[in-house]
Amino acid sequence: MGRLIRIAGALVALAITLGATSGDVNWPTYGGDGENHYSPLDQINVATIGRLGLAWHYDIDTPGSSFTAPIAVDGVIYMAAGHSVVHAIDAVSGKLLWAYDPKVAEVAGVRLRAAWGSRGIAYARGRVFVATLDGRLIALDAKTGTLAWSVVTVEPDDGRYITGAPWVFDDKVVIGHGGADFVPIRGYVTAYDQATGKQAWRFHTVPGNPAKGFENEAMAMAAKTWTGEWWKYGGGGTVWNAMAYDPKYHRIYIGTGNGTPWNQKIRSPDGGDNLFLCSIIALDADTGEYVWHYQVNPGEVWDYNAAMDIELAEVDIGGQKRDVLMQAPKNGFFYVIDRATGKLISAEPIVPLNWASAIDPKTGRPIENAEARYPDGKAAIVYPSMYGAHNVDAMSYSPHTRLAYIPIIDRGAVYVDPPRPFDKWTFLDRERFNGGVGAPPPGLNPRTPASALLAWNPATQKQAWRIPLQGGRDGGGTMVTAGGLLFQGRSTGQFVAMAADSGRQLWSFAAQTAVAAQPISYSVGGRQYVTVIAGARYPDAIGLPREWDYRTQQWRLLTFALDGRDRLPAATRHPEPYRTDPTFRIDPAKAARGAMVFGQRCIICHGMNAMSGGAAPHLLRSQLPLDLDAFTAIVRDGALRANGMPDFPELGREDVEGLQHYIRLRAREADALERPGKGHH
Ligand code: HEC
Repeated sequence: MGRLIRIAGALVALAITLGATSGDVNWPTYGGDGENHYSPLDQINVATIGRLGLAWHYDIDTPGSSFTAPIAVDGVIYMAAGHSVVHAIDAVSGKLLWAYDPKVAEVAGVRLRAAWGSRGIAYARGRVFVATLDGRLIALDAKTGTLAWSVVTVEPDDGRYITGAPWVFDDKVVIGHGGADFVPIRGYVTAYDQATGKQAWRFHTVPGNPAKGFENEAMAMAAKTWTGEWWKYGGGGTVWNAMAYDPKYHRIYIGTGNGTPWNQKIRSPDGGDNLFLCSIIALDADTGEYVWHYQVNPGEVWDYNAAMDIELAEVDIGGQKRDVLMQAPKNGFFYVIDRATGKLISAEPIVPLNWASAIDPKTGRPIENAEARYPDGKAAIVYPSMYGAHNVDAMSYSPHTRLAYIPIIDRGAVYVDPPRPFDKWTFLDRERFNGGVGAPPPGLNPRTPASALLAWNPATQKQAWRIPLQGGRDGGGTMVTAGGLLFQGRSTGQFVAMAADSGRQLWSFAAQTAVAAQPISYSVGGRQYVTVIAGARYPDAIGLPREWDYRTQQWRLLTFALDGRDRLPAATRHPEPYRTDPTFRIDPAKAARGAMVFGQRCIICHGMNAMSGGAAPHLLRSQLPLDLDAFTAIVRDGALRANGMPDFPELGREDVEGLQHYIRLRAREADALERPGKGHH
């Protein structure tokens, strides 16, 4: 019976995808039609690329989620801007058809402190699905934008938030959540009925308190790999980013995140693998039952998520066709896994790394460098960092070149136990980001971050080519097409097309701001389009080739086609100067207190060293912190909450004053660095 419904569902989906007459190709979900960020369209190709031009642009009214991927279905583009404000835009004319605002800032509470917006949405059977920071999953009528249903997929006030895209298949929609860096939570994914929003199944990714019994055998098995009273810390393992649906095996693959907290000595003091942290888990799509898992980081301690995008392909390995699953998680290896069994086929490093020497092909387990676990209070410089060798910037895979295209980061980080490693109170403070690791000791510095675009052959686990990029996180998500083209945005503000076989750059467009999101491609009336969101929302400016200002660059939806004739208006606004204000007397003790508060509560949006990467205004260039009353109204009392600036009511007067002194100090330092001769370093 289940199978029959599935076949009927597949036929309906097929008919919808093909359209009655048009034969147009859609991009209905995060990874495209299939999971590989690959488009079968070839009108725009290596020979015609010279004619590619801007067809239209749409000015996005709310900054907030420049990593989001739009989708395109039957001539309409849907995207989530800001705090999941869904826009439907005519793909041919660029005109807004409707918008739906879920009013996230009004209900998100402390979750507004999570810096990120939605990374994607999904379409199925006439509905658009979007999730929100406050934990709702929402279904909208795709024609009108009216609400079909809305369910809360988290527990009341548990601090879970959603930034990932929903995944759709058959009659179901599946959603995960994030939050394991802030609050003691236990990760799960939940499937709902697309038509009604009724819950179909839920799968927890880590075991709960054994005294309460286990939901299933998988949880009983997982609990054997934990020690201490892990459930008090939640455990983590959230599915905050990627999943993949596999129609051949009728499974949904989920990629789980880090432990809560990252530091295993707190979470599970006597060690253990801590299943299913940092794992890829295969679930039966109908029931959500466990099928297999592969753990990339047993007993994880570095925030090495396996939450990056999961891609599926048939790959010829040693003369044999294999159904594989591919992932480049944060930990720096590229994994090729047998989809049928979950067994490792191969894993090789794609960046220089030092936490492990190799992945043992027999056991599938890493051969670790013990020092990288920062044992006995000893700090360690570890490569890659918690930013990952690969982060949310999507990779893509082409069945023609048989290469995967991965935006990679070469960046290290210092890991060390906190001064009072088992201070549970500190960890359970729900109001700030907290991995259970300490501040780096002075003088211990990783090398300068670098980034690159890597073309990797999954069959041979060898590099095909590599393009060094500028700065520490230059490459946006990638898309590859049957036209032999690879598209990628850059933090330099360029959107480029390359030959997918060689990496040779064939075309570029100046987007006037960074382009971090992955592009999509689709056709309407036989004409192929390429669409991407331009907007800078980096967590900080460290290693960016240039500064992107929250206020002075317009974020846009850009759509390209052959012979497109649109032009962007000239960028006329310029950043404000650093506010050095010589009349302000900086008190070093107050500034030191401010630095601490800033590091715990502000850094995630306003950037390391208060150097904004575009996610929020550059505070060193803002007048507002100079006025203590205005500053207090914003920071403590939430005057700008509706615009996405959270309130911090727990801060005392000394904290706010401290922030003010810290910001002044940093403004003078940044100004001095910019003026040779005046510099003090
Ligand atoms: C979740 C992200 C986020 C966090 C965390 C955050 N901010 Fe903001 N902040 C914003 C955004 C977004 C704006 C812009 C709001 C607007 O457009 O009016 C903003 C605006 C501001 C402004 C006004 C600047 C101006 O010129 O308009 C100040 C001052 C400020 N934040 C200070 C802080 C301080 C201090 C902290 C830490 C205690 C902090 N913020 C934490 C996102 C954040």
